Amino acid sequence: MAQGEFFETMGSPPLTALTLQAPAKINLFLAVTGRRDDGYHDLLSVAAPLVWGDSLEAEEAGEGFALSCDDPEVPLGPENLVLRAAEAFKAASNWGGGARFSLRKKIPMGAGLGGASSDAASALLLLNQIAGSPFDAAGLQAIAAGVGSDCSLFLSGAPVVMRGRGERVERVSREAYARLRGIRVLLFKPGFAVPTPWAYARLAAEAPRGYVAPNRAEAMLEAWLGKTGAGAEELLFNSMERPVFAKFPALPALLQLLYERFGIAGRMSGSGSTCFALLGETTALGPIEATIRDAWGPSALVVDTRVA
Ligand code: C5P
Repeated sequence: MAQGEFFETMGSPPLTALTLQAPAKINLFLAVTGRRDDGYHDLLSVAAPLVWGDSLEAEEAGEGFALSCDDPEVPLGPENLVLRAAEAFKAASNWGGGARFSLRKKIPMGAGLGGASSDAASALLLLNQIAGSPFDAAGLQAIAAGVGSDCSLFLSGAPVVMRGRGERVERVSREAYARLRGIRVLLFKPGFAVPTPWAYARLAAEAPRGYVAPNRAEAMLEAWLGKTGAGAEELLFNSMERPVFAKFPALPALLQLLYERFGIAGRMSGSGSTCFALLGETTALGPIEATIRDAWGPSALVVDTRVA
């Protein structure tokens, strides 16, 4: 798919001058199916971008790359995925330019919301625009796959099925997208983060207990995709909950409380620490937010948002 087509299918184009939204994602479904020889894990996941997230601005400048950010906690060195994506873009193209990036951060780090990967995907899209579109969608996907496992999913701007270590993505069917698009999502994150490598290592330490057999995972997803009209809540599953909840009981304790008080079935996103719940249109936020803040304290992040 050409990039122009990609933006057309997204509804309102996210590009305003050279600023691009870098949305957060949630994993509605995440089945880890086993460990690979390269140390990564194979997975089957459905991830959906949200209408809430960071934003990244790029301005063509010089021959190298520079990054500034409104959050002093964000590392600005070459380890930042925006700069790694920019270097990977330059290495893969014969474009000789450079750019100054300015990042406005809302997505916390270690949240399971894909913040750094989304920033990197937006950097690739911006640079492709600045450089005169040397890459089509497949070319950008190839670069994104080398930047991080979660980077590719953000290039499509819509819910995707992820396979491999996460870099093989395809959009969900039009019918499944219609079931997911615009649904209300409440994000709630405690004051602590969960490092993704730690969470995968903990899962691996229990192997094969926490893995879902690949054919079982595909069958679970097929059952949902094939059930016309099945709501998003029927899809929810996350293999990472077991190892992460064992270490951080504050997460399942609150999910249990929300279920008892409000009948809400909350889940964790990715490797955490963010949890989410799918809310009805008329559900009042006040009592739910009060319960979250009571359990997790004032440092909890609570965001009432939607699937993009
Ligand atoms: O690819 P990325 O750098 O985002 O992954 C961060 C870490 O998460 C990896 O180093 C690995 O420990 C773990 N991971 C994994 N399997 C995946 C994705 C990530 O084991 N599919």
